[in-house]
Amino acid sequence: MGHGPMLRKEDARFVRGRGRFVDDVRLPGMLHGAILRSPHAHARILSVDVSAAESHPKVRAVITGETLAGRGLAWMPTLSHDVAAVLATDKVRYQGQEVVFVVAEDRYAARDALSLIEVEYEPLPPVIDARRALDPDAPVIRDDLDGRADNHVFDWESGDAAATDAVFASAERVSTCDLLYPRVHPAPLETCGIVADLDRITGKLTVHATTQAPHTHRMLYALIAGIPEHKIRIIAPDIGGGFGNKVGMYPGYLCSVVGSVLTGAPVKWTEDRSENLMSSSFARDYHMHGEIAATKDGRILGLRVRVLADHGAFNGTAQPSKFPAGFFHVFTGSYDVKAAHCRVTGVYTNKAPGGVAYACSFRITEASYLVERMVDVLSHDLGLDPAAVRMANLLRPEQFPYACATGWEYDSGDYPRTLTLALEMAGYDELRREQAERRAAYEATGRGSLMGIGISFFTEAVGAGPRRTMDILGLGMADGAELRVHPTGTAVLRVSCMSQGQGHETTFAQIVGEELGISPDDVELVQGDTDQTPFGLGTYGSRSTPVSGAAAVMVARKVRERARIVAAAMLEVAPEDLEWHKGRWQVAGDPAAGRTIAQIALAAHSDLDLPDGVEGHLDATCVYNPPNLTFPFGAYICVVDVDPGTGQATVRRFVAVDDCGVRINPMIVEGQVHGGLADGVGMALMELMAFDDDGNHLGASFMDYLLPTSMECPSWELGETVTPSPHHPIGAKGVGESATVGSPAAVVNAVLDAIGVRHADMPLTPAQVWRAVQGRPIRP
Ligand code: CDP
Repeated sequence: MGHGPMLRKEDARFVRGRGRFVDDVRLPGMLHGAILRSPHAHARILSVDVSAAESHPKVRAVITGETLAGRGLAWMPTLSHDVAAVLATDKVRYQGQEVVFVVAEDRYAARDALSLIEVEYEPLPPVIDARRALDPDAPVIRDDLDGRADNHVFDWESGDAAATDAVFASAERVSTCDLLYPRVHPAPLETCGIVADLDRITGKLTVHATTQAPHTHRMLYALIAGIPEHKIRIIAPDIGGGFGNKVGMYPGYLCSVVGSVLTGAPVKWTEDRSENLMSSSFARDYHMHGEIAATKDGRILGLRVRVLADHGAFNGTAQPSKFPAGFFHVFTGSYDVKAAHCRVTGVYTNKAPGGVAYACSFRITEASYLVERMVDVLSHDLGLDPAAVRMANLLRPEQFPYACATGWEYDSGDYPRTLTLALEMAGYDELRREQAERRAAYEATGRGSLMGIGISFFTEAVGAGPRRTMDILGLGMADGAELRVHPTGTAVLRVSCMSQGQGHETTFAQIVGEELGISPDDVELVQGDTDQTPFGLGTYGSRSTPVSGAAAVMVARKVRERARIVAAAMLEVAPEDLEWHKGRWQVAGDPAAGRTIAQIALAAHSDLDLPDGVEGHLDATCVYNPPNLTFPFGAYICVVDVDPGTGQATVRRFVAVDDCGVRINPMIVEGQVHGGLADGVGMALMELMAFDDDGNHLGASFMDYLLPTSMECPSWELGETVTPSPHHPIGAKGVGESATVGSPAAVVNAVLDAIGVRHADMPLTPAQVWRAVQGRPIRP
């Protein structure tokens, strides 16, 4: 009835161009905001003159840092217990930082008025290279923080340092490597935007916004602006991709609220592409020094990692409070190691804040890339086949649930089966033979392309998370769900998570349909409206299925149990005499005597006599506090062809075997995997937020920040294994981000395998590949 490859309900409107996004919201009397941004990466503000802008005939308000300071709103708390400037008052700390907000009668007038504003800056030397941020003579970026004399944000460690040192001291082989996971951007198709509308009579603030976490945003507005929570309604309409970019709070949002307060009219603000790329949350930017200890025949014994994390000008990462480096400490990946230890140091630089989980579960992408590169480096150093090294070290099925060296408990897995399937699908031995032939031909003739085969095996940790260990700003990460079955047997499910294109309207209806034995077409999903949905922390880190999805199952089961009591009254038997069979409650031993949910729903709303204490109607609520994260995993094999003359790498094939437990909608899962694989190809080969020495942003448009298109992607070859999660009520694990996490290492490993280079950093653009092969033998 429920699970299966159902077409997406929401596509009926999306493919007709009938989605309703924030920029489609038009309220009567609505005004428009625009932001003046800093041209400097680091500069003191000497003066701000807005008089000419204020006298523009269509300008209704001009908001400066001083305006906000007068209301105690010049600074806002970040999700990582730092503060960030809403509009700069003292200094600007990155290029593109917000300085003045103009509210005008139309978007064009607001933009025109920006050019009338005079800001006098005194440029300061910027800190652009994170590796220089802690130098004694480095300029101090955060002199707004009391007593701050350096650019240090935090030090954090995980694992047993002494045990790890001991393993390394006695290991036969230690391989080391410095790796950069460069700064990239989630770059959703729809940029960020808001329509803020404060009703001066009722005092109610209605916010239409591109938010992945409506309930968290409501609390943030209450905390920052002092508006009581019950007077705030957040409405997230259709969202054109979030990928972590739409989790946090941006200055443009708060300025729009203040604009509405000042003018008494709704204020819309929509970012343009450059604003989104320059100033909204970036991802990654981890400088990693990895060490891997092993026996000489390739048995991995330990991992040790030092990370320098570039957090930009404000520590605005979004992740559970107790994990300043997110879930980076899942860096032992899919392998059975004796000991592991990581130390992460966060630093401020003169770049935009962020460090968000871009299609990943809180820094696990960096961790997965690290370990999968290190395994290849080790294989390279030992002259061993990377597939064989992985197979020899993978966790074995009987080791689950598995407690890893840094304290995580992996729920379930059969890793060798998944890798074996991927190797078979790829025809691995045949590929290696072809590679050897091509190399020989190249060496003999100096012509032709080089072929590379890259493998990665990843384990993700998704579904944050158990309340005892995970919170964001003190909010536990449990999700509510409410389900009501109408008298005629159709249902409405209300959830706190928020689809950004993942197809929740379909899959959540499928979950309820499966549990209640009704058609998913008869289940409507309500999401993205804090007045209409129960509390919960939203959608990121692939938490929808593990947390809200589980809540949907549990609430449907509650309704089913209520239905059992009603059915028993209808059939004049005891509830214990009924069994659930193919969507009906029926009398055990007498299958003809039974009632469907639709029949029961009608009776539950009728004059049927129910047992004492049993209320009528058919509905329930629940709050789901996950006992653990879910641990999806997968084996990826990438085949590339590299032109040694130009350095151009082309992905020829990509085999991806994913295991996300039980699949609710296999077609949607495949779509999620396709998107993530394209993401991985992009990060491995072309995406980079680059800066020059002065802190000028070099990737502020899609002409410079290159996103992959179908032209760079092969026809993906997907496979699956199914290892249910033992603690999720239907055995499902999250999958939305698996492919983004797992694929970059496979592509990089393939390119480096082709050119025979031990390591080169992403993105492996033609120039980067060409540089990497210069002066090196093809097979070192
Ligand atoms: O939190 P987010 O929606 O980004 O990620 P997810 O929970 O992994 O779900 C992504 C999409 O795949 C949703 O529509 C899920 O319902 C669907 N899915 C599925 O059909 N089966 C799974 N085992 C996992 C996800």
